[in-house]
Amino acid sequence: MSFVEKKIENYIATLTINRPDALNAMNDEVVSDLESAVQSCINDERVGVIIITGSGDKAFVAGADIKKMQSMGPEGALAFGKAGQQMTLTIENSPKPVIAAVNGFALGGGCEISMACHIRVASENATFGQPEVLLGILPGWGGTQRLPRLVGSGLANEIITTGRMVKADEAKAIGLVNHVVPQDALMDKCKDIANQILRNGPNAIAQSLDCIRKGVGKSTEEGLAVEVENFSKLFGTEEASEGLTAFVEKRSPKFRK
Ligand code: CAA
Repeated sequence: MSFVEKKIENYIATLTINRPDALNAMNDEVVSDLESAVQSCINDERVGVIIITGSGDKAFVAGADIKKMQSMGPEGALAFGKAGQQMTLTIENSPKPVIAAVNGFALGGGCEISMACHIRVASENATFGQPEVLLGILPGWGGTQRLPRLVGSGLANEIITTGRMVKADEAKAIGLVNHVVPQDALMDKCKDIANQILRNGPNAIAQSLDCIRKGVGKSTEEGLAVEVENFSKLFGTEEASEGLTAFVEKRSPKFRK
């Protein structure tokens, strides 16, 4: 049995992390199940956009499993950290956009999973944070790297060293989330965004994400080199031919079967 439920409908895969008794906290099995579920969506032609959420109405993911980490030594922590980091990289490197539907606490590893997603939408009751220092440890699944990239190092320094909670409205104000909506509107908002994306060419989407990902932290010239290469790659593909021709013929393009 998997800790991640998968539902595919109209090219949208919804992955629900399902360990409600522990507020969806992530042990080895949950990490592995989430990575496998994301990978299976990447390989599945029926999927164009992936939404990740948590079960229940209280938590997205309350972090890595603290009870498991209690007995961990440096070697175990290295393996657990690397497994979690690899899982976040699988999400971040997905050629299909991944949307985090943050439906409650997104703490520690939960905040880190949301930050690996391409787009974050939060419900009004969502709370973000990297409270690891309260436990005498530090964010090990990308928090020290992705938080400063999203909100700037000044705020990331404060959020990580205080370990304080960041409520949804502040998360929106600092650019940590794209939208905040009432909890009962969360999945509809994510599906609206997914449906807008699904009107567009899958290769164009994948190559755009590739440019954005590879450009972060690089000089403009290095980023532009990736951009022009991906731009040229798309020409001559069936998809670009369909999109450009559809415009000229004044009709909607048909990118998916
Ligand atoms: N690991 C394991 N179990 C957890 C958990 C976690 N991260 N978070 C919550 N739980 C469990 C609780 O132990 C509790 O289980 P029991 O009923 O068996 O005691 C159950 O979930 C419900 O939690 P609470 O009773 O604590 O619920 P609450 O509403 O009072 O508080 C909360 C909610 C503020 C989220 C609180 O649970 C909390 O602070 N959780 C820990 C958050 C945290 O520190 N996360 C970071 C983990 S470290 C990390 O993630 C490292 C990394 O970078 C990879």
